[in-house]
Amino acid sequence: PTDNKVRIVEVSPRDGLQNEKSLVPTDIKCELIDRLRETGVKNIEVTSFVSPKWVPQMSDAGAIMSHVRGFQSGSEDRGIEYSVLAPNQKGLDAALASGVKEIAIFGSASEGFSKQNINCTIDESLQRFRGMCEKALKQGVRVRGYISNMCACPIDGLVDPKSVVRMTKEMLEMGCYEVSVADTTGVATPDQVHRTLSAILDAGVPANKLAAHFHDTYGTAVPNVLVALSLGIRTFDSSVSGLGGCPYAKGAKGNVATEDVLYLLHGMGWETGIDLQKMSEIGTWVSEKLGRENGSRAGKAIASM
Ligand code: HMG
Ligand code: MG
Repeated sequence: PTDNKVRIVEVSPRDGLQNEKSLVPTDIKCELIDRLRETGVKNIEVTSFVSPKWVPQMSDAGAIMSHVRGFQSGSEDRGIEYSVLAPNQKGLDAALASGVKEIAIFGSASEGFSKQNINCTIDESLQRFRGMCEKALKQGVRVRGYISNMCACPIDGLVDPKSVVRMTKEMLEMGCYEVSVADTTGVATPDQVHRTLSAILDAGVPANKLAAHFHDTYGTAVPNVLVALSLGIRTFDSSVSGLGGCPYAKGAKGNVATEDVLYLLHGMGWETGIDLQKMSEIGTWVSEKLGRENGSRAGKAIASM
């Protein structure tokens, strides 16, 4: 049966690393991708073609993509899809030139964060994304959409689900194959997540067009995964060892840890195709390399056995 399958999008090389204070050497990023390729994961978000002034950590996007291109063709890609973030036409052009097959556009359901993250209003962003989708799709490149601040914004406070619904519909209309709805700062509680996701589904968006992207600041990310799962969502974004953080929200933590999500899902009988043991070893390795504490509870438990 296909109804016990869950798809994991491993976002650690991008979301996990983009806020690391000191520049992570390109070699380490490439090794992280190489190691992730051995786990069975089928979707890896590898880098961003954003302004190096805004996010210096991602300024080696071209080098990361040339590494990925090395195994992207032929059987070496192992059926793995590699995606990159692009904020505007300039980023899209650079991404296309680097040979990407999938890009992700990213907007915010709140105005304050839209301004702070991509320096434009929600309406301006949607207009920009429309042009980007047109160009990417024409070249056979898939587009994924992200919506930040699904429940609350670090600048504007609580977010009206209507704004998330509107953006989801527009992003799908312009040709995104999927929209990943994000709790950017990891503040949402399960009832809030339920309300926002239900609003999107009630507006007629099929659950298989949605992904959920939870950050884990207050310990609600795993419960939030369960809520999304109960509503029919089968794609989750996560980072090995819970890497990451948000520059615009003090104390905000990384993505929900892939190991924690895998432990939950596998224990409940869901299949991800990913080897939890191998993923945990990567969590231990990358935490050591970056000199930070392993942010995965499951990963730490497995490492101590
Ligand atoms: P801007 O300053 O308004 O851009 O930034 P601009 O068009 O006025 O250009 C200013 C300068 O940047 C120019 O260079 C451009 O060429 C250059 P100058 O003439 O001054 O030398 N530039 C670029 N360079 C490289 N690549 C580009 C690019 N675009 C312009 N693509 C911009 C607007 C969108 C570029 C900027 O705000 C930006 O890069 N923002 C990205 C911020 C970011 O990466 N945030 C993190 C990712 S989103 C996220 O983490 C949320 C997510 O995980 C989901 C969730 O958890 O919520 C996805
Ligand atoms: Mg994120």
